[in-house]
Amino acid sequence: MTRAARLALMAAGVALAALVITMVASGAAFPRIIPGLPDAGVLTRWGLPISKLWMDASGLVTIGLLLAATALLPNDKGLLGKAGLGYVRAASWAAMSWAAAAFAAIVFGAADSFAIPVEQVFGSNYLTGFATQYGGGIALTLVVLFGVAIALFSRGAITAGSAAGLLVFALATLLPPALTGHSSSSPNHDLATTGLALHLLSLSLWVGGLGVVVLHAVRRLPKLEIAADRFSRLAVWCFVAVGASGVFSVLARLTAVSDLWTSAYGVLIVAKTIAYVLLGYIGWWHRQRTLRRMSKGEPRAFTRLAAGELLLMAATMGLAVVLSRTAPPPVSLPADRAFDLLGFPMPPPITIANLASLWWLDLFFATVAAVLAGLYAAGVVRLLRRGDRWSWGRTSAWFGGVALLVIATQSGVARYAKVMFDVHMVEHMTLSMVVPILLVLGGPVTLALRALRPAAKRGDRGPREWLTTILHSRFVKVVAHPAIATAIFIASTYALYFTPLFEAAMEEHLGHIFMTLHFLLSGSLFFWTIIGVDPAPHRLPHVGKLLVLFVTMPFHAFFGVALMMTGSVIASGWYEQLGRTWGGPLLEEQQNGGAIAWGFGEIPTLMVLLAIAVQWYQDDSRQARRADRRADKGGRAGDPELDSYNAYLARLNRGESSQ
Ligand code: HEM
Repeated sequence: MTRAARLALMAAGVALAALVITMVASGAAFPRIIPGLPDAGVLTRWGLPISKLWMDASGLVTIGLLLAATALLPNDKGLLGKAGLGYVRAASWAAMSWAAAAFAAIVFGAADSFAIPVEQVFGSNYLTGFATQYGGGIALTLVVLFGVAIALFSRGAITAGSAAGLLVFALATLLPPALTGHSSSSPNHDLATTGLALHLLSLSLWVGGLGVVVLHAVRRLPKLEIAADRFSRLAVWCFVAVGASGVFSVLARLTAVSDLWTSAYGVLIVAKTIAYVLLGYIGWWHRQRTLRRMSKGEPRAFTRLAAGELLLMAATMGLAVVLSRTAPPPVSLPADRAFDLLGFPMPPPITIANLASLWWLDLFFATVAAVLAGLYAAGVVRLLRRGDRWSWGRTSAWFGGVALLVIATQSGVARYAKVMFDVHMVEHMTLSMVVPILLVLGGPVTLALRALRPAAKRGDRGPREWLTTILHSRFVKVVAHPAIATAIFIASTYALYFTPLFEAAMEEHLGHIFMTLHFLLSGSLFFWTIIGVDPAPHRLPHVGKLLVLFVTMPFHAFFGVALMMTGSVIASGWYEQLGRTWGGPLLEEQQNGGAIAWGFGEIPTLMVLLAIAVQWYQDDSRQARRADRRADKGGRAGDPELDSYNAYLARLNRGESSQ
């Protein structure tokens, strides 16, 4: 048996052992069976957590293999190297295992949900019923389908681009179970689901990535130092993200510190935290010692410590799966429908003070804002440290945009936007117009292209090369065409509010995230094409930008008027379920929303007109300076009219006749 296979078996054994010990220690292995009450039986009691562990582990291995092929190992002009190709092929098998494990989890999940012995699941509609009508079952069915798709596509992938696409797809495949587990029944279900999703995303890159680097080391394959160095830089951020998302997941489920030692759930959390701190210490030791020794050609210390680290992670995984099947301590929740729908109590009647003070953490957009601010600041600091300059106007525009994003998604505005249509419209307009205008004036792509170093090896793809590849991709060329960007910007607004989409987006946490993301992205795309300072596939002349703006704004005004004229309440089911007892009639608030959509449009129009005027003036002065410089060198200015005028002046200068 190869060393790699031995290590993989050892990791599986450790994870399983940790799961069994934790099941026994937490009492999950021997629950009190009340006679007469249905019970799924011992096979399901063990089968379900084991298939979940198998599923999580297969997912992490698939992601680790695709990550290694895409980003840890150098590729050549976008084509995968020998090891990279091997890892993508291996990912195909890991993805098949992922799909099979998810199917096993469906079978045991059905037995567990219907509290019947697993043998009976096959003979009836239990299986299809669970797989197609239960949130948890549907999520697992998606994992089966996506797993099979990844397995098939990985068979034919030969470029770094296709491996990257598969990696993103695999990361997305982690999410359905996280968004439907008992996170969705916890006191703060939005925080719980987002926390768990971020937790799984970051730990899959961390654990999966380390797994493949260790595999690469024990197989003594070339370019280990490059892979380990690149992984080590990623691992720091994953470590931070796993810890932070873990803590937020705990805050969403536990309501008292004492729960950490008085409940089985809390004790498991403490155990995981100890493992986490140990893993942090090992990571630090790698950076202090083993990676340095490896760069001197001694990989042994790194391989040994990393293999130990992997076994500790495997044990933590076993523990984590039991944790996810352990009920958190019961909390008394307000028994009102609004709380179930919102994840927070119905806010009091709206006042300016409440809008300003009733902040509520939206972990997803708080993370987006932190990443946008952090990356931009890092870019500016790198330029300044290098002695390069970067415009403070752009920096303030960017941070102004990020600050507005935080206010629109975290302050009382976000809370009232969920219960009042007119406040929602203020949030929508801010996120789709004002925030994007400020962000595109910040020039993030230009900053990134200046701050990021080119890949060390010619033809390889580092972050800078990936950015240019994406910018030059056919997809970006198509969506960033001014006509397409404008159509998306206008049509999607009508499609959202005049179809059942809006109500669906308001009812589902994931739907609300997608709606808000869409506002931000469609707005950024549109304003990038007309006032963006970054390089874009299609550059409009200034007159063209004005034209696009003047064509678009009436559609916005008309949208506002259409809202004001609508006789029925949009998303009435959502607002009626909330049962709000204060505030005006729903239709009146909707008409206010229409007026806001109509009136609000003026502000961005003004901002865009100002930006176009400034950019036009700067362009003209730049051209004039260029022409002057050329003329000073006696060369042609490149403008026929100016050239003939300069020729005339030169002739006058030489005292020749003006004719
Ligand atoms: C500060 C340290 C950590 C904390 C506070 C933490 C907390 C949590 C919480 C609260 C959950 C949700 C459980 C549920 O569904 O109720 C979770 C899930 C999970 N954690 Fe952690 N965690 C930490 C570190 C880690 C580490 C280091 C690993 C692995 C190396 C890990 C692996 C997992 C996995 C795999 C799940 C999902 C289990 C499943 O649903 O299948 N966690 N964690």
